[in-house]
Amino acid sequence: MNIFEAIREDHEKQRVLMRVLVETSGASESREKFFKELKAELNKHAIAEERYFYVPLMDSDNTIEPARHAIAEHHEIDELVETLVQTNMSSSAWLVHMKSLQELVLHHLNEEEHEFFQQAGKVLSAQQKVQLASSYRHEMLTQRGK
Ligand SMILES: [Fe+2]
Ligand SMILES: [Fe+2]
Repeated sequence: MNIFEAIREDHEKQRVLMRVLVETSGASESREKFFKELKAELNKHAIAEERYFYVPLMDSDNTIEPARHAIAEHHEIDELVETLVQTNMSSSAWLVHMKSLQELVLHHLNEEEHEFFQQAGKVLSAQQKVQLASSYRHEMLTQRGK
């Protein structure tokens, strides 16, 4: 498995969780459960991805800009998650924020998969792609996420 496949696999988890979450209503048990899962998943993924994908790419002139851009988006995602935490789950505002989060995350994942992976593919060696995948996956398994 290479780093692109490893990341893609977790992106898919995020997409599924968000698809489920926008169908939940009120302060239900499922909303609470899946939001907690999504929050931990996004948090762990951002940390592991920055460490084992973006940081190594900061060394190359060709990928430094997209890496910065993606990390800035991680912060935006973080802020929106925090807004959701602060919003009462039983209010209608919660779903409005959840849909904004879904839109933002989907945009981010698509950009990574369709633009950034191609650029990174040219910069990383075959060996690096495999090594980064194993470090990334190890980090995902050992972290608990906030
Ligand atoms: Fe990301
Ligand atoms: Fe990602």
